[in-house]
Amino acid sequence: MSSLMDGQVVIITGSGRGIGAAAGRLFAKHGAKVVLTDIDAGPVGDVAAEIRASGGDAISVPGDLTAPEFPRELVENTIEKYGQLNVLVNNAGYTWDGMAHKMSDKQWQAMLDVHLTAPFRLIQAAAPYMRDAAKREMDEGRAPEPRCIVNVSSTSGLHGNIGQANYAAAKMGIVGLTKTIAKEWGSFGIRCNAVAFGMIETRLTQDKTTAGAIEVAGETIQLGIPGHIRDLSKMAIPLGRSGTPEEAAGALLMVASPLAAYVTGHTLEATGGLGI
Ligand SMILES: NC(=O)c1ccc[n+]([C@@H]2O[C@H](COP(=O)([O-])OP(=O)(O)OC[C@H]3O[C@@H](n4cnc5c(N)ncnc54)[C@H](O)[C@@H]3O)[C@@H](O)[C@H]2O)c1
Repeated sequence: MSSLMDGQVVIITGSGRGIGAAAGRLFAKHGAKVVLTDIDAGPVGDVAAEIRASGGDAISVPGDLTAPEFPRELVENTIEKYGQLNVLVNNAGYTWDGMAHKMSDKQWQAMLDVHLTAPFRLIQAAAPYMRDAAKREMDEGRAPEPRCIVNVSSTSGLHGNIGQANYAAAKMGIVGLTKTIAKEWGSFGIRCNAVAFGMIETRLTQDKTTAGAIEVAGETIQLGIPGHIRDLSKMAIPLGRSGTPEEAAGALLMVASPLAAYVTGHTLEATGGLGI
């Protein structure tokens, strides 16, 4: 068992499936105690049970991250169970595409809520256990414990994408939030980085005919992308293929781990070269 994240307590949002679930398994394999959370209680409970069955330490705290009080509840549950918080991975999300000229206010706001406001509220909720805890340790003359935040962005945020004005704005917004927290909390030894994905094989990027839908705030939102766009995107990837959730999780672990101890405010592009 690797000790890369030994004893570190890690919250991973959107970990009922896809990249978040793969990250839960990978961080646990590297010694972290993982707190998994998702709007879908069944799948996230299954991922936590699977990690425990293979000798890891995991709990699931299901809930809707866009509910104003839930971020605080999630952090409080984490502290109650493990007594500390080292890493926060803001990964949860979905897409609700439409051309900008036809996009409803609800559609616009939903993307800002899940991809930008929820991470902001979680960072605020984590402040007493990350920023203030580090300050206390430093006031006592000790080196602060390892702590960091990893926010998930997208090539749609960095470069824009047709049909994703809402999602792109939120995913670029998270880069601004990332750099700001890196500057505000850097003096407490807390790093904050983003990882931007390109095309990773998850529910989000399946063909529209098979991807299914997500139920959020009383809406049923169709997920996935048109088949011909999937094919075109793959042609633009220098590595010539889409990525796996496990490869995406590897990039999250890379920036969260002590190997990136001097990396902060950075956006790592885990895209197979898409967009270079
Ligand atoms: N798959 C890609 O190619 C790709 C590319 C760029 C960025 N991303 C980003 O990666 C992250 C993970 O996406 P994925 O591809 O693994 O998709 P996914 O659909 O497989 O997983 C996302 C998870 O987030 C959960 N979720 C959504 N809204 C939620 C809410 N309000 N509260 C709690 N949980 C919620 C979903 O239930 C789901 O389990 C997202 O932020 C996504 O925008 C993905």
